[in-house]
Amino acid sequence: MSKILIIDDEPGIRTVLSDIIRDEHHQVLTAGDGFEGLAILKEESVDLVILDVWLPNMGGIDVLKEIKKEYPNIEVIMISGHANIDIAVKAVKLGAYDFLEKPLSLDKIINLIKNALKLEKLKKENASLKNSMFMEDRMIGSSEQMKAIWTRIYQSAPTDAKILITGKNGTGKELIAREIHKNSKRSTGPFIEVNCAAIPDTLIESELFGHEKGAFTSAVARRKGKFEMAHGGTLFLDEIADMSLNAQAKVLRAIQELKFERIGSEQSITVDIRLITATNKDIAAEVKAGRFREDLYYRLNVVPIHAPSLNERTTDIEELIQYFMEKFRSNINTEYKTVSREGLNVLIKYKWPGNVRELKNFIERINIMTDEKIISVGTVKYYLQEDKGSKHAINNEYSDLKLNEAKDKFEKQFLTQKLEENGYNISRAAEILGIYPSNLHGKIKKLGIEIIK
Ligand SMILES: Nc1ncnc2c1ncn2[C@@H]1O[C@H](COP(=O)(O)OP(=O)(O)OP(=O)(O)O)[C@@H](O)[C@H]1O
Ligand SMILES: [Mg+2]
Repeated sequence: MSKILIIDDEPGIRTVLSDIIRDEHHQVLTAGDGFEGLAILKEESVDLVILDVWLPNMGGIDVLKEIKKEYPNIEVIMISGHANIDIAVKAVKLGAYDFLEKPLSLDKIINLIKNALKLEKLKKENASLKNSMFMEDRMIGSSEQMKAIWTRIYQSAPTDAKILITGKNGTGKELIAREIHKNSKRSTGPFIEVNCAAIPDTLIESELFGHEKGAFTSAVARRKGKFEMAHGGTLFLDEIADMSLNAQAKVLRAIQELKFERIGSEQSITVDIRLITATNKDIAAEVKAGRFREDLYYRLNVVPIHAPSLNERTTDIEELIQYFMEKFRSNINTEYKTVSREGLNVLIKYKWPGNVRELKNFIERINIMTDEKIISVGTVKYYLQEDKGSKHAINNEYSDLKLNEAKDKFEKQFLTQKLEENGYNISRAAEILGIYPSNLHGKIKKLGIEIIK
């Protein structure tokens, strides 16, 4: 069942059309002029508009323009008399689906409505597919580590216990925080995120607790802080270890006393929030080093959840690849690409310093860059290489060495790899390297390369 809006000033036409549309089991709304029609569109989610060309107050063409501007996915069928058919043609050029001529023919009306609704549905599907590419990810992974995380989430979500999520960059800390919120009794309330690392120390207090107008020079209006905005929901303080000691003291007081004041106000505010925090730092070490308050750490760390790095749960990699391949395919009607077995093996062995975020970006990139249906190991290696940044950047392992040491180190690694690739067959490896076998023998001895047979 779809919702169809008729905008026509003639009551007779509205009645006839309404009856026909109801017989087709759609819901009908009617308006006597353009303003009324646009007001309805603001309130209701309409699928199709049937719009008279000639209307009092605001002409049909202007109404059409407005609809197409505000709601590009809604289809519009124009109704015109014989005298103004040229306007109806113009309307189609402006994006109307088609037009009906008076006197109205029953068959034609029914057909046009059917087809217009079909198109509208397709457009919506397309839009939602595009959206889903940017939408939040489902949390993927069935490794033991992921199962343990889900258990923690389900156990702790229904309570109001504070949760501290730790893990390296891109391991999914934010995703975990959102899952906790979604599975909690606060799921219909707000989920408010604050990236503590991104806010300068001078502003963090106002960001968290808000301020009154005039509290400081740039406080031109009264402003709610994130603590207040999260009322009834979850407050997620990300990168908590990057907060200054000064800000830590304020947060500690707010969660200890469950109240705070806006800057420039004496009045205490109490809020009902669930606090989740996250950091990619080793927070226990930060405490030891005196950079993070111990008392705050114990307050926050009621339920710890650790998001493991991707290379600690390599069994999830294939599943993640499949998920992102599906997500980043260019069109819903095309099958999504797969990665060849050899390609997968390379990706499983790769260290993923940027964790799931890096993997996600990588899959998006190869989806765009290659037409291969089954992505080859060569393509995988090529684009993994690109990730390493500038070709001129010197690998860290060489940066502290003298030239001779670096040369020897590289030579050893390179020869070892070539030997390995050739099953330690010295004459074959030598041929590929373009040197004499005796020469290779000499280097193996000098550099202390181990021959494994
Ligand atoms: N298990 C997972 N399944 C699917 N997508 C994931 C998973 N883990 C992370 N992602 C995706 O990877 C990206 C990075 O995740 P997220 O932002 O949650 O990581 P983070 O630990 O908060 O990173 P940072 O420390 O850099 O802020 C996001 O796009 C997220 O949707
Ligand atoms: Mg994050």
